[in-house]
Formats: sequence, structure tokens, C-alpha cells
Amino acid sequence: MSASGTPVDTHEMVLIHRVLRREFGQLPRLFRSAADDRARSKVIGAHAREMLDFLHTHHTGEDELLFPLLRERAVLDPQLMDRMDAQHMQVDDAVRALEAELPAWTASADAAVGERMATRVEATMPTLIAHLAEEEQQLLPIVSVTVTQSEWDALAKHGMSAIPLTRRLVILGHITEEASDAERQRFMQVVPAPARLAYKLIGHRQFTRETTAIRG
Ligand SMILES: [Fe+2]
Repeated sequence: MSASGTPVDTHEMVLIHRVLRREFGQLPRLFRSAADDRARSKVIGAHAREMLDFLHTHHTGEDELLFPLLRERAVLDPQLMDRMDAQHMQVDDAVRALEAELPAWTASADAAVGERMATRVEATMPTLIAHLAEEEQQLLPIVSVTVTQSEWDALAKHGMSAIPLTRRLVILGHITEEASDAERQRFMQVVPAPARLAYKLIGHRQFTRETTAIRG
């Protein structure tokens, strides 16, 4: 709840979740498409690296800056919070396993390793999808009336500051890719004006070029 008593707008997290669903959903196909093709494994490996970092940052932000507030204020069923933590741990185990294999695979394009990573992502998707849905349906409505605007802003800042400056416009492309016009406008309001202009001038083109090469 903001100082004025207005609920905090948490919808930007839904846009972030769309990136995770979409990009992790595609990863198995992308890993397989690079089998024994080292030029392609470099491209897919860099993308997978970026998305693993994005997911990891998203979860650590919630673990450190959001879930403790919700527990402290006892606004949600402790069992739900325990389930959220358990889902994070399960997803993080998969993230760590993928991170361990990714550098060598990026360099080698080894088909068996790529298949193993693809299978691991597929095995984790049901947990990730269920977790994101539960967070959106059960947590966010409570979050919007429980945390202050500055607490919510700290979470967004944590996520943004983890993204290298040179990659922020491309990530912005990912976040707004499936947004409706109204959602895009709403999200862009929290983006600083120079970044909005840079996205218009160069970022969108860079995002489109990159994703076209990645998705094949
Ligand atoms: Fe989330």
C-alpha cells in the first residue's frame, strides 16, 4: 500500500513472468536446434545464460526483498509461503545444473549435453509455470495492499541493476514483447525517459534482430 493508501501496481511482475514462461518454454527446442552446430550454440548459449541470470535475479529479489515482508506481516497462509520457497528451491536446483553444463556446451554444441539440458528444462517447466501462476493469483493481489511503493520499487531496482547496462534495452524488448498497448504504456511509465527514447531509436531493432537469430 502506498503512503496515499492506493494499492501498489504489481502488474509489471506479470510481464516479467511472461518472459520467463516464453523464453524457458522455447529453450528445449533451441538447445536441440544447435546440436553439433557451434556457431549456433554460441548464440543460444548466450541467450540461455542471460535468461538463467534473469530468472535467478527475479527469484533472489523475491527471496530477499518480498517474501520476508509477507512473512513478517503474516498476510498469507504460511503453507503458501512454504510452497513458494520450495518451488524456488526446486527451480534453483535446475538453474544451477544448467549453469554447470552451459559453458562447455556453448563451446562444444555437444548434442548429448544439449539434449540433457533440454530435458532438464522440460522437467522443470511444470513447477515453474505452477509457481508463476500461483504467485500471480495468490500473492500479487495481497502484495499490492501490503507493501509500500518504496518497498515495491526496491524490488524493481534490484532486478534492473542486475542487468548489464548494455543489455537493458534488449531485456526491455523481452518484457514488452507480449504486452498489450495499455500494458506497454503502463510499463514504460516506470522506464526513465532516455531509456524509452533509446529503445524507440535502437533497442527495439536490436531486440528484433537478436530474437530472430535466436528463434531461427
Ligand atoms: Fe515473480
